[in-house]
Amino acid sequence: MSSPLGRAKAEAETSREQAYAAAREAHLSAAEGALVRVDDLFAGYLPGVNILNGCDLHCAEGELVGIIGPNGAGKSTLLKSMFGLVNIRSGTVTLRGEEITGNKAHQLVKMGVGYVPQVNNVFPRLTIEENLQMGLYHDPKRFDERFDYVAELFPALGTRRKQRAGSLSGGERQMVAMGRALMPSPSVLLLDEPSAGLSPALQDEVFIRCRQINATGVSIIMVEQNARRCLQICDRGYVLDQGRNAYTASGADLMNDPKVIELYLGTLAKA
Ligand SMILES: Nc1ncnc2c1ncn2[C@@H]1O[C@H](COP(=O)(O)OP(=O)(O)O)[C@@H](O)[C@H]1O
Ligand SMILES: [Mg+2]
Repeated sequence: MSSPLGRAKAEAETSREQAYAAAREAHLSAAEGALVRVDDLFAGYLPGVNILNGCDLHCAEGELVGIIGPNGAGKSTLLKSMFGLVNIRSGTVTLRGEEITGNKAHQLVKMGVGYVPQVNNVFPRLTIEENLQMGLYHDPKRFDERFDYVAELFPALGTRRKQRAGSLSGGERQMVAMGRALMPSPSVLLLDEPSAGLSPALQDEVFIRCRQINATGVSIIMVEQNARRCLQICDRGYVLDQGRNAYTASGADLMNDPKVIELYLGTLAKA
């Protein structure tokens, strides 16, 4: 006879497996024709240790997709895998129907993928303008045109273009980092916790900017620790747990799903 604790653990495991299976089914029936899709991805840093354990995701043209989940679930690893920064063991990443699994970051930028890492995402010794130039190093002729687009989204970057990025506040740096990734006019932007470490007012501003960027036609896949806020603004969300999707639905449905609330929203940062 197993102990009550053992039985409870087994039940939790079964329920998680059921959630994974349902999430995969939802993925397979909806991912057809997506701008970006990730299928059954296994990836990790160290030999023999997988951090992603069969992860699926898709983002349709024009969508804003949010990814939430506990610390260490593999959210950053998923974004890094899509940007060629992690060893992929199996599974595929596809952009506009073309397989890009393991492509290098500089190739992906040319193909229309932008990525803003969670930390160290600006060159502190360079000015705002030079940071934005770095985003377009492969096509400098387009600088003026793209700078105008970025300065319209983030007016402070235009007026302070000669200021060093290292002297900016956290919120301003985040805008430089997003501006840099937007310079090559990406089709899709991968954002890793853009609101982390910012005051509540600045967090709101970042979320508003994300919606504005999305409204200009850029698809967004965003990882966030501010789970409720993220689900409020995204079209669709994923809950990543132990390197797989436990739940996927519209942001509103996830926010109101009792299981998601009980298992994930109760313990995550509240908006
Ligand atoms: N560079 C690395 N080398 C080895 N392990 C790593 C590295 N980066 C992250 N990990 C491990 O991968 C797991 C998932 O990390 P991460 O993707 O950063 O999670 P999340 O972003 O969901 O908090 C964690 O156990 C973490 O320790
Ligand atoms: Mg992370």
